[in-house]
Amino acid sequence: MRGWFASCFSGSAKVDTESSIKVFYGSESGTTKNLALRLRQLGAQRSVSIVVAGLETFEPTALASNGKIIFLTASYGTGGPTTNAADFHKWLAATDTLLPPFEFCVFGVGSSIYADSFNGMGKYVHARLTKRGGRAFYPLGLGDSLVDLDHDFLLWETGLWAALQAPREAHSPKADCERERHLW
Ligand SMILES: Cc1cc2nc3c(=O)[nH]c(=O)nc-3n(C[C@H](O)[C@H](O)[C@H](O)COP(=O)(O)O)c2cc1C
Repeated sequence: MRGWFASCFSGSAKVDTESSIKVFYGSESGTTKNLALRLRQLGAQRSVSIVVAGLETFEPTALASNGKIIFLTASYGTGGPTTNAADFHKWLAATDTLLPPFEFCVFGVGSSIYADSFNGMGKYVHARLTKRGGRAFYPLGLGDSLVDLDHDFLLWETGLWAALQAPREAHSPKADCERERHLW
């Protein structure tokens, strides 16, 4: 197998990315943080440099870095943020104004015991970043710690590397025009 096809299926395929990938995590008791660190380790095996940071350090300018950004977020309360993601959650809710183009993906960590708010935060982050003009370069993943979080994460992570390798999409002039009014 060669090229893109091979990279989808080979566990050790290298991924060529323009710059290092940033992973932000929202975690209360450490599960999601550990997944972020695991992602960094899995990336290192593919020569992908991943920088891991808690969402308490998130600055909107991170979205302008021309790279692809990954969010791993646990849910608490009624599908709300972890303590370290509270400011990020507020920022997401504050306005619908479009941001300059950026690419992101989200893996939510939750438990289906909270049936009414299962992975509320992961779904919210994905929806709000899309609303703000981001493009999800890879589908939203939803991990269920009640059933098999490891399995969910590994399934999601398997296709991630090929998606990271794909070139950024061209922007539409209309969207870029609307973005001229952007606010960070
Ligand atoms: C008090 C409490 C509230 C929670 N609320 C939700 C929720 O609304 N939706 C959900 O999907 N999971 C919920 N969970 C499950 C956590 O998101 C899950 O245990 C997750 O693995 C925690 O990740 P962390 O260790 O990174 O904080 C809740 C857990 C606790 C202890």
